[in-house]
Amino acid sequence: MTARLTARDLTLRYGDRVVSTHLSLDVPDGAFTAVVGPNACGKSTLLRALVRLLRPDTGEVRLDGRQVGGYATKALAKQLGFLPQDPLAPDDIKVRQLVGRGRFPHQSLLALWSRQDEDAVAEAMAAAGVEDLADRPVRELSGGQRQRVWMAMVLAQETPCLLLDEPTSFLDITHQYQLLGLLAELRDAGRTVIAVLHDINQACRFADHLIAMKDGRVVAEGAPGTIVDAALIKDVFDLSSVIIPDPVTGTPMVVPTLEGE
Ligand SMILES: Nc1ncnc2c1ncn2[C@@H]1O[C@H](COP(=O)(O)OP(=O)(O)O)[C@@H](O)[C@H]1O
Ligand SMILES: [Mg+2]
Repeated sequence: MTARLTARDLTLRYGDRVVSTHLSLDVPDGAFTAVVGPNACGKSTLLRALVRLLRPDTGEVRLDGRQVGGYATKALAKQLGFLPQDPLAPDDIKVRQLVGRGRFPHQSLLALWSRQDEDAVAEAMAAAGVEDLADRPVRELSGGQRQRVWMAMVLAQETPCLLLDEPTSFLDITHQYQLLGLLAELRDAGRTVIAVLHDINQACRFADHLIAMKDGRVVAEGAPGTIVDAALIKDVFDLSSVIIPDPVTGTPMVVPTLEGE
């Protein structure tokens, strides 16, 4: 396994609140990595550190061997596309404009909006299924529509590496599977995907590499089929379960048991 994006021995905190210490991981190139773990265990904090929105107290995040802090903003944004958990749209912006913002690393003060930008935006809107919303104000959209618009913005950025914080949380089940299928296609086309997912069964279905976190630590990582068992689910989520093969894919499927049974 090779990894362009790596974290070593990170201490991550907000003021006095320490979220992670000694956190290390590699994001495997060309693979779909899912990060799972209970609420508040530090998943978003990890992603924010990887895209240098949060500066580690100690330790290093590197891309291609170079600390992310040393990159120019556009140079980094050409490599890493990030979908935050709660992105905030500027007032009154329309869908097409917001998706167009994803093109910023590819533009300069001198260059006009190009045909290439136009094509990237159109392609991203089609992939995220938001073409019909192009002229709607973002703030008028439903949570799920808005989430797909943000996804389109990240796609328009055309980065080899995508970091997505709960990209499916507002989507109905059909759109969840569409989006996960799209991420798998991007992976098949050679992109690196790392996504925080809440549905452990979806994570097991789609991810090549699973990172299970608890209390700011990586508890287990590897192929879902090799690391997911009842003991891990108990440890990470404090949930009793039986693990059966997913009837469609054969990947691990977590079925919670009722308390006391
Ligand atoms: N901006 C912030 N300021 C202070 N504490 C924060 C901030 N963001 C997150 N936290 C705290 O850091 C911990 C980890 O949060 P987060 O990484 O968002 O968890 P997760 O994404 O796994 O649910 C939580 O205890 C949360 O309350
Ligand atoms: Mg989070």
